[in-house]
Amino acid sequence: MNLLTKLIQKSAKILSNPEQNFEKKLIDLCNLFHQKISYYDWVGFYFSNFENKTLELNAFAGSPTDHKVIPFGKGVCGEVAIKNKSSIIPDVSIHENYISCNVNVKSEIVVPIFYNKLNIGQIDVDSFTFNAFTEEDMLFLEEISKMVSKELNKVKK
Ligand code: SME
Repeated sequence: MNLLTKLIQKSAKILSNPEQNFEKKLIDLCNLFHQKISYYDWVGFYFSNFENKTLELNAFAGSPTDHKVIPFGKGVCGEVAIKNKSSIIPDVSIHENYISCNVNVKSEIVVPIFYNKLNIGQIDVDSFTFNAFTEEDMLFLEEISKMVSKELNKVKK
């Protein structure tokens, strides 16, 4: 079994733990991916504040960032909030609409989280390696996104 498949299984366990609250589960997922995937150098969950039209950082692993609140449309994350599609940026230095959180970051992937078909947040991963993310990472994070959404469904009920 490859690493990402194993991590899907571990994530399912984390998310189904009745002893933990939702926020702690997200922190555990961030730490898991940050620790186990060598090129995941920063992992975070942003959620949308539709009133303010901003994304707000909820849980993360890696260096603290100044960008805890990001307006819709700004940066890669802000773009994904609007276009509702995953985005892979192989070289952040040539992406015009980019918000730098750390000078060492070379590439980034952002995957939306849908809840009742609404784009309510996203998983953001930064790498210190150029062109670090592939289709496999996108499929992996989209699966995690669906699992988080299902868990959110339980929290909101
Ligand atoms: N680089 C992101 C901002 C978030 S940091 O990576 C933590 C962007 O351009 O939206």
